[in-house]
Amino acid sequence: MLNLNQLFENIKTDLKNSKKIEELDEIRIKYLGKKGIFTSYIKNLKNFSFEEKKKYSIIINKKKQEIISLIHQKKQKLTELILEKRIKEETIDVSLPGRRTEYGSLHPITHTINYIKNFFLMLGFQSVNGLEIEDEYHNFDALNISKNHPARDSHDTFWFNDNRLLRTQTSSMQIRIMKKEKPPIRFIFPGKVYRNDYDTTHTPMFHQIEGLIVDENINFSNLKWIIYKFLYHFFGKKVSIKFRPSYFPFTVLSAEVDIINNNGKPLEILGCGMVHPEVLKNVNIDSKRYSACAFGIGIERIIMLRYGISDIRYFFENDMRFLNQFKYN
Ligand code: DAH
Repeated sequence: MLNLNQLFENIKTDLKNSKKIEELDEIRIKYLGKKGIFTSYIKNLKNFSFEEKKKYSIIINKKKQEIISLIHQKKQKLTELILEKRIKEETIDVSLPGRRTEYGSLHPITHTINYIKNFFLMLGFQSVNGLEIEDEYHNFDALNISKNHPARDSHDTFWFNDNRLLRTQTSSMQIRIMKKEKPPIRFIFPGKVYRNDYDTTHTPMFHQIEGLIVDENINFSNLKWIIYKFLYHFFGKKVSIKFRPSYFPFTVLSAEVDIINNNGKPLEILGCGMVHPEVLKNVNIDSKRYSACAFGIGIERIIMLRYGISDIRYFFENDMRFLNQFKYN
């Protein structure tokens, strides 16, 4: 019994020294657990006579209850202390200035696409985004770019297999819409395009807006008018531009439009032309009755020109110092 009293004192000291709730659990296991010291006392009772067993087990059990209640008390005390400490630490200094919430804003590319879209919607165009995963037929064949046409090389295509690819141009949507709709057709197709190319003026993914008009009597002056109007609207002032004869397999009368910058240097911003009769044939539009014009604008390029941005990669690096300059809200 002396041992038992000593043990009881030990437990009390342990409890007194404990500072964390987890430690209380350790104490409980150490003394009262299945392999605990206290439990071994109970097990040892089997060596005693019936009378002794009865006498000691009452004592032991009483002590056990006391220990359980002591642990419980200590637990309550510790919980209170922890709470008190937390309340002290977490008091709010109401005199401190508040933290402002930063508002997000549209990415300059999204903003520009919306802006351009609105302009064309005002002119009676419809807008369709289209698919980024295309097939060879819509991206090349139907646009009069045959299998071994040199124009394919310049596109550095990402292929999935012999037929599937990431579209290299939004022009593929011309085919899809002309197949589906009857003239008169006035559509724009904004979206992402992909080419395996990477430097200060090229990223493997970039954005284009394609425009397509199909109707009777559509001619090159219609195309010029719309491009002039668009550029005037986009740059917010009269800009000096030049139509330079060019070549695209899907247009005949093809041109590229250059903007002449302040130093008199021409910078290419879009390709355009009268849709090739062969393309109209591919989509079953009678080229004797209807004619069509189309254009494809590089979005990043015109934003770069408008804001004097020197490296296309800034758009995709998520650097807040760059993006914060384009807060539109
Ligand atoms: N798809 C061409 C490109 O990515 C751009 C283009 C040129 C689009 C002429 C057109 C067009 O609609 O008529 O380089």
